Amino acid sequence: MKEKVIVTGALGQIGSELTMALREKYGYDQVIASDIRSMPGLPAFESGPFVSADVNDPAQFDHVLRTNKVGTIYHLAALLSHVAEQNPQRAWHINMAGLFNILELAREYKCQVFTPSSIGAFGRSTPQDKTPQDTIQRPSTMYGVTKVAGELLCDYYFKRFGVDTRGVRYPGLISYVAPPGGGTTDYAVDIYYQAIVKKRYTCFLKEGTYLDMMYMPDALRAAIELMEADPSRLKHRNAFNVTSMSIAPEDIMHSIQKYIPDFSMDYRIDPVRQDIAESWPNSMDDSAARDEWGFSPRYNLDSMTQDMLDKLKRKLTKADHEN
Ligand code: NAD
Ligand code: SER
Repeated sequence: MKEKVIVTGALGQIGSELTMALREKYGYDQVIASDIRSMPGLPAFESGPFVSADVNDPAQFDHVLRTNKVGTIYHLAALLSHVAEQNPQRAWHINMAGLFNILELAREYKCQVFTPSSIGAFGRSTPQDKTPQDTIQRPSTMYGVTKVAGELLCDYYFKRFGVDTRGVRYPGLISYVAPPGGGTTDYAVDIYYQAIVKKRYTCFLKEGTYLDMMYMPDALRAAIELMEADPSRLKHRNAFNVTSMSIAPEDIMHSIQKYIPDFSMDYRIDPVRQDIAESWPNSMDDSAARDEWGFSPRYNLDSMTQDMLDKLKRKLTKADHEN
């Protein structure tokens, strides 16, 4: 029997799509989705095995790993930057204690582990343009603190215990299947929904706020390709800078206007998320990911916009018909 895969946080923005991509690749019964919540109707919940489990209760996962031959864990359960800032103590508990539990289980059951870090692992003292792979990391948010500590903890488990840990620093991810979970880059998803529904959008980040972004199909490929990469080529493990585009809100607006000419946008700035965004890089240097495992994104801003608008229109029309 081939070894199984388990995804924690499988019903979130990334997990709801990564679970399906993994099931299509490795087999529907081979990929166990798990999350603290249940979402009947969501394909990731319905289309294969699902375990309701809290990453802060390792006994629940211990049972799953003991009773299934699991070889790989994609550990996605975490709180994102904006919600983490609203409850930093809870964010530390889920993002750090949860990761520690997963790494301990991976050590015991000899699993490979993927853990995403983020552009949030950087701070104001980091070089903002073409941010190097190895550079100053002094984030000012609890989310960032847990991401830097998480990168280090994953490196430690590799060096100290030989656990095959790997990870990327994702930029803001744009997708249409599941909504984002409360991050600083959420505007870049919501803008597409509002462009279709209202033809106008009020943005909570300022014009000129450049951040790295990536379309979900590239983010899924990044995770799977890194996990399948030849380990002898990996000088870095946790975590590789990956990016597709460095864009500001007005760039997305202009791109949408190519397909919806009467779309308009204004601004009502949220000082908390603006402050977080300004502490993150404008653009990352992703050459280590390109050199060490050959990663290359396929979508740019306009091809992403075209696909997002097509897929979202279909999704929203279907939802209208069902209501
Ligand atoms: P999300 O908030 O959409 O999903 C997280 C999932 O984790 C949710 O389904 C939630 O129910 C689950 N969860 C929360 N607490 C849990 C617990 N105690 N036990 C089990 N499950 C729990 O997040 P996402 O966007 O899918 O992000 C996944 C990972 O990728 C996170 O580590 C995040 O920091 C990282 N990341 C995401 C982005 C992005 O733009 N989405 C960018 C960079 C990094
Ligand atoms: N999209 C994520 C956030 O804004 C970046 O890690 O929190």
